[in-house]
Amino acid sequence: MNVPKIVAMKSKEKISMITAYDYTSARIADEAGVDIILVGDSLGMVMQGKNSTIPVTIDDMIYHTKMVKQGVKNALIVVDMPFMSYQADYVEAVKNAGRIVKETGCDAVKLEGGREFAVTINAIISAGIPVMGHLGLTPQSINIFGSYKARGKDKQEAKKILEDAKYITEAGVFSIVLESVSKNLAKDITKAVSVPTIGIGAGVNTDGQVLVFHDMLGLFDDFKPKFVKRYAHLKKEAIEAVKLYTKEVKEGAFPTDEHSYD
Ligand code: KIV
Repeated sequence: MNVPKIVAMKSKEKISMITAYDYTSARIADEAGVDIILVGDSLGMVMQGKNSTIPVTIDDMIYHTKMVKQGVKNALIVVDMPFMSYQADYVEAVKNAGRIVKETGCDAVKLEGGREFAVTINAIISAGIPVMGHLGLTPQSINIFGSYKARGKDKQEAKKILEDAKYITEAGVFSIVLESVSKNLAKDITKAVSVPTIGIGAGVNTDGQVLVFHDMLGLFDDFKPKFVKRYAHLKKEAIEAVKLYTKEVKEGAFPTDEHSYD
């Protein structure tokens, strides 16, 4: 997989994207045939147990992406630029994006925000690094918004998100994540831009979908946004398995000869 192939999928074939944060989850996603693996800064919540993505560092992203890279043969690997790795100035942003790509071997970076980041996006792309955009609910701005509610509900905000999508497309992003926006706004944006849109809580009319690995497998249940579909209930299964193991250890039923050396 590569960036031009992803761009060429627009309006032809839906794009599937899922997060992964380590070797094992990356192998599962890659063997299942997803097009894009996102090393999302959502790892702050699902891997580190924090209550937002704000504390995640570049070193965290690099550490997790190195593990993901080991497990991927086909999928495109996109890595989130964490909070304050690109916001202060575009020179620092280029250096940080370069560090992420150089030290991990990922294919592209993703950053949150609209027209205010057009210069930054353009500078990173000029350095040879593809950029994915992220609009709508942008979790790194949680302290401005105050909640993880859907965005673009009023006409003015919806218009800004649509305009932002056009600005960052002009700046060169190869695709745009649309998080928690109405399906009609997502449809309008998908029509208005030449690059693929990838929705999470944005309805069916985007060019692709993304979900968080631990959410869709039912491994993470601290909270469940409306847009999450649970394709499995692995936490429940894991608890049952560990309970059975503990019971068997206490009763002396494990290990049997099958798991012992002569
Ligand atoms: O960090 C993340 O997992 C993301 C997805 C929700 C798109 O940005």
